[in-house]
Amino acid sequence: MKSLFRKLSEAYYLWRADAPLRGVWMYLSSRRRRNVNALHWKHGAALTEMKAFVRDNAFRQDWFTHNIPNWMEVFELCGLRDRPIDVLEIGSFEGLSACFLLRQLPLARVTCIDTWAGSDEHASLKHIDTIESAFDRNVTPWRDRVTKLKGYSFQCFATLKEADKYDLIYVDGSHHADDVMVDALQGFRHLKVGGVMILDDYLWRYYPRMSEDPAMAINGFLRLIEGRYRLVMVYYQLVLVKIAEPSPWRG
Ligand SMILES: C[S@@+](CC[C@H](N)C(=O)[O-])C[C@H]1O[C@@H](n2cnc3c(N)ncnc32)[C@H](O)[C@@H]1O
Repeated sequence: MKSLFRKLSEAYYLWRADAPLRGVWMYLSSRRRRNVNALHWKHGAALTEMKAFVRDNAFRQDWFTHNIPNWMEVFELCGLRDRPIDVLEIGSFEGLSACFLLRQLPLARVTCIDTWAGSDEHASLKHIDTIESAFDRNVTPWRDRVTKLKGYSFQCFATLKEADKYDLIYVDGSHHADDVMVDALQGFRHLKVGGVMILDDYLWRYYPRMSEDPAMAINGFLRLIEGRYRLVMVYYQLVLVKIAEPSPWRG
């Protein structure tokens, strides 16, 4: 009963935040116990393995492993496994999600953008000044497949060439709506047609004004790219595939 109430209140939140109807519908069906259990059963081994990796490498924050069953399913649905792909991650922190990508996608090259200074919600984290060295240490086994770009995401995007395109983009940097909108739009520009974008914390509510939370930016972004994307999955994160570039007369 409690979980039904939560599910409906989150769907109502998405609707108030101007989510596309299809997104709300996908969210509701992804939360069905049968669907959640099926994904956990199918991809449980990857989850267990990564949890052991997190323990063994003394990661101090795990904001990621709960996503693993869904990500494994996305890799399969979108054909991201076993081919040399280019991945862009905005927000790497100690490198947990990057390590997962490097382990699960052995042919992928991963570009990581971060200030390594933390986000608004990390103000009380005591070990913030050590996250960059933890990142460096954690990705060491795959260093030849990692490119590190340090700075605000908008600054790092400015250093990319127009021709730099990615097969998978993970948006998990600042969760303030203003920054999410910039990261999503810039990321979409650098996403290949057929490429996948995963946006974190779709349902996270943190700021005093709802308009500053990620859902408002993500839903606004979806309106701007109408006709150029297909939704793949909506749960706590939103996953889409780019299906078209902007119209050629854009100039
Ligand atoms: C939630 S953490 C990322 C977690 C990581 N993906 C993982 O799974 O462990 C968000 C990261 O975004 C970085 N960040 C926040 N605002 C940023 C910005 N404007 N540009 C670049 N990085 C930013 C923070 O330093 C922090 O490391």
